[in-house]
Amino acid sequence: MPQKVISFVTMKGGSGKSTSAMCLAAHWYKAGVRVALVDADPAATLVRWIETGDDLNGLRAAATAPEAVAEQINTLKADGFQRIIIDTPGFRSLATDDAIRQSDLVLVPMRPSPVDFQVAADTVELIDQIVAERATWDGTVRFLMSQTTRGSVIARHMRAQMEAAGYYPLAVELSSRVVYGEAALAGSTPSFYQPRGGATVDIAAFVTEVEGLLSGTPGTGTGIKNRTG
Ligand SMILES: Nc1ncnc2c1ncn2[C@@H]1O[C@H](COP(=O)(O)OP(=O)(O)O)[C@@H](O)[C@H]1O
Ligand SMILES: [Mg+2]
Repeated sequence: MPQKVISFVTMKGGSGKSTSAMCLAAHWYKAGVRVALVDADPAATLVRWIETGDDLNGLRAAATAPEAVAEQINTLKADGFQRIIIDTPGFRSLATDDAIRQSDLVLVPMRPSPVDFQVAADTVELIDQIVAERATWDGTVRFLMSQTTRGSVIARHMRAQMEAAGYYPLAVELSSRVVYGEAALAGSTPSFYQPRGGATVDIAAFVTEVEGLLSGTPGTGTGIKNRTG
């Protein structure tokens, strides 16, 4: 399994960065993948989450200062981790920029609201600027719809608006479910806490879609706005 770096980035708190990052990591970890987390948010959400219970104790997570993110990624690569997941703060910092530069996949989580969409679109502009400075960057950027109400009109509307604007959301949505918070309270994630529940079904589909993007499945495309050519 080739080494891949995935970061969760958006300039808005509460979008679902930390939750989505932890759920992705935990699902891989449970499946025996060597996965490590870089917690670049000064709030240390992921490190505290793991310390809260037993389920995720074996999952490596390093609280990392912004100026140390690039080096931390290299260290984890040298240590042989197959998947390195970076959680960034809800504001731009050196951590954000370095995470983007070194990522194979940047996920921009957003709740289904016009304000969240605007911030997500601004985030993609920022990503564009950062990677434009690189001679080569063949990473992929995708929006991830989070905390949607299943079957709601607003989620469908936001998805259509994104696609019309040339952005590509993942097909999977991490819809709003109480179990995310309940599992977090127990230092866990749905994959451990409620392995047969609906949230775990969503997370499994999320993992599958991410794996497809990382392995460059033909037809999924790469590039900032999913240029499929
Ligand atoms: N799919 C979801 N369903 C229900 N609650 C969620 C979901 N995703 C995130 N949350 C909750 O929303 C809040 C903000 O999520 P969080 O991942 O911390 O966002 P961010 O890291 O972007 O600030 C948390 O209380 C979290 O438990
Ligand atoms: Mg967070």
